[in-house]
Amino acid sequence: MSERVLKNFNKAQIQKPTKPSTNFKIKEKKMIKAQPIDASTPKIILNGITYDYFCGCGYHDLQDSVELRQAVSESLKDKPFKHGSSSYGYGSNPVQKKFTTTASQYFKTETVLTFPSGYMGSTILLRALKEKYDKIFVDEQSHYSMKDALELSKKPVVQFSHLNFSDLLQKIKNHLKPQERPLIASDGVFPMSGAIAPIPDYLETIKNIEGAIICIDDSHGTGVLGKNGRGTYEYFGLNHPNLYYCGTMSKAFGSHGGIIPCTQTFFNEVNKSSYILKGATKIPMPTLAASIKAMEILMSTPTLLKNLWANAIYFKKGFKNLGFDIELSPSAMLCLSSFSNINLKKLFNFYKENHILPRYSHEGSYTSVPKGGGIKFTIFSNHSTSQYDRVLALTKEFLKKNL
Ligand SMILES: Cc1ncc(COP(=O)(O)O)c(C=O)c1O
Repeated sequence: MSERVLKNFNKAQIQKPTKPSTNFKIKEKKMIKAQPIDASTPKIILNGITYDYFCGCGYHDLQDSVELRQAVSESLKDKPFKHGSSSYGYGSNPVQKKFTTTASQYFKTETVLTFPSGYMGSTILLRALKEKYDKIFVDEQSHYSMKDALELSKKPVVQFSHLNFSDLLQKIKNHLKPQERPLIASDGVFPMSGAIAPIPDYLETIKNIEGAIICIDDSHGTGVLGKNGRGTYEYFGLNHPNLYYCGTMSKAFGSHGGIIPCTQTFFNEVNKSSYILKGATKIPMPTLAASIKAMEILMSTPTLLKNLWANAIYFKKGFKNLGFDIELSPSAMLCLSSFSNINLKKLFNFYKENHILPRYSHEGSYTSVPKGGGIKFTIFSNHSTSQYDRVLALTKEFLKKNL
């Protein structure tokens, strides 16, 4: 990884203002006054202690950038904060139009659908496509938003084993009747483990089934994977007429709201049929302005994505060398699961004592948490190598004492 590029980028792109205060919610469910600190690498102060910060999903730290804040203030000059209506039948506004143009450029699609939260994306897709499929085959570890979408779809659902395309094939053989059309649903990148779904294998599995559809929740692939940060499908170089995906602006873009990049025809159909788009108030304009700025930054600063992938590989290799079972992928999460009876809770506490803040999750407490629980490190494009080296050195020390 080029430290120089990273430092230059930090100076140019994400100079942090001094001591803005924010509320940071920690696992213990207490609201603790916390503040990002004036540093070029992700750190946070909790109860007066400065931690190296490895939580959340702000993969480029844009939520804390001067540029996004400025975009938000600009958008409030001479304009209302928001329109008090849904998207349906009430026309558009200049910020919304600029958002659509920028996002279409970012994702290289004809247009995009937007809605108040990424959580709604799968529900919107499954409803919009409901005449085009008969049975859903879903990765068992898909996000809660997919699980809710499945229930609302009222279609029969068959789960297949996590990331397992052989099991998908078997389940299709066992459960799909002649003339039925399957919809395969999965996260693109799983939120705790960082595992990337083998979508090319899923496409291969369904290639001879007429009308088969794939729907991907790419909340953690958007702004992270693919040459231009368009997500998992770009990472795999996929272009399939029946591949649909939704994303969020609440993670890598540092903003808020859901997005479905799509064709104009699909946009028109969904706008007419979606209860969410008809019934939910539009995303407020400052939020759209922040998303526009985030996409502009990502498009004009390719080093951001490159640093993120380089950081991911560097950190993952370090843990792999220490004996952890880690896949060397560019997803922006690293999840430690236990090996040789290492007590993960103890390791997490050791990190905290040493002012390092990842996230610990019990088995079953969130989707894609490994068996026995996991410690997740979120990877940022502006973490420094020395932050990773310190974590790795401490982990080595812990293993020496505890193995
Ligand atoms: C896979 C996945 N889908 C959807 C969401 C929800 O996105 P949003 O926070 O934009 O509603 C999340 C949030 O954590 C997620 O991890």
